[in-house]
Amino acid sequence: MKNNCNIKNIKKNHSFLEVEWSDGEKSKFNYMWLRDNCPTAHDKDSRHRMFNILKVSQDINPKKYALNEEGKLEIEWNEGNHTSYYDQEWLRKNCYTIKNKKKYVSPYQLWDSSLSKDLKSISIEHDEIINSDNGLIKWLELLHHKGIAIVKNSPVKEKSAFPVLNRISHTRETFFKTPFEVINVPKPNNSAYTAHELRNHMDLPWFENPPGYQFLHCLINNAEGGDSSAVDGFAVADYLRKNEKETFDTLVNTHLKFRDKDYTQVAHRSFYAPAISLTKDGDYNDIRFSVATMDALDCDPDKMDKVYKAHHRFGNLLHDDKFQIKFRLESGDIFSFNNRRLLHGRTAFNPNSGNRHLQGYYMDRDEIIGRLNFLQQ
Ligand code: OGA
Ligand code: ZN
Repeated sequence: MKNNCNIKNIKKNHSFLEVEWSDGEKSKFNYMWLRDNCPTAHDKDSRHRMFNILKVSQDINPKKYALNEEGKLEIEWNEGNHTSYYDQEWLRKNCYTIKNKKKYVSPYQLWDSSLSKDLKSISIEHDEIINSDNGLIKWLELLHHKGIAIVKNSPVKEKSAFPVLNRISHTRETFFKTPFEVINVPKPNNSAYTAHELRNHMDLPWFENPPGYQFLHCLINNAEGGDSSAVDGFAVADYLRKNEKETFDTLVNTHLKFRDKDYTQVAHRSFYAPAISLTKDGDYNDIRFSVATMDALDCDPDKMDKVYKAHHRFGNLLHDDKFQIKFRLESGDIFSFNNRRLLHGRTAFNPNSGNRHLQGYYMDRDEIIGRLNFLQQ
């Protein structure tokens, strides 16, 4: 075995085999789990499970079990006339007893305003991503771990971000179209399509599943104003968790309401979600925050005051210079970020002083993490 660790002893229990390894670790392997994960259970191409666990009883257990001559764990089952052969290495790698003993390590590197001084650390050259998997991996790692990256020196023709984005995967379509045009227009259906200031926000919080990532490709930005800001919502949530627990708990436990019903729509979209949501490991999952599209809240009247104060406190921290970074996009930059972690904004600009045109793209979080997992293998 590659990891130099072998099965030393196996004992049968009422619902699991207890395996002792040569390094002293012990694993429990449940009988239904073992039968369900027999190496023959999956189709070799789709890798979908063809075996149907519902066809065996809950009392399935090994009639016989032993390490065979090839070193595989061989189990003859008491029903279904089937024998399974498991690689020791696979068993060790997939051992849920050992996995559950390990302390969870977050993939997220939280940051605050000090990142402003080191924007180079989150920058990556466009051509490096196009020409090498290492460049692509670096971009994906920044997106996954820091939630932010700035791609430098991209072409500045309209729609020219597609090739670099397609190095990751396909984009996510919305009714704003792909790319969406961030340019000031008369009678816009989104406040981004004006010359106004945009407070730090996420895009499309009123979707059940808002886009995981956003890419703002700067074609031209020579008007006065229009400087960018960004804040790590996970870092602000973490600050509240450590320092203002009651506010944090309110933000985790209260479903806020978001809505979109701009005048061009033939649908009214709305969704309830907490401002901070956590993963099964208690890590940060999503931030939902947008002053512009939060609906009239309708939570418990006895909680409204507490909820509004928590929202107000969170919003102020999300704009605090201790946490947010400020920078200016240049033509050829693609400001790339986790839309359910970072909030982004811009200062107002003077449309009569020059031109400002960004093209925006969305992508699902699954595409970023899935591609990174694949390339790191
Ligand atoms: C947007 C947006 C920022 C900018 O289009 O969602 O936030 O800098 N734009 O114009
Ligand atoms: Zn936006």
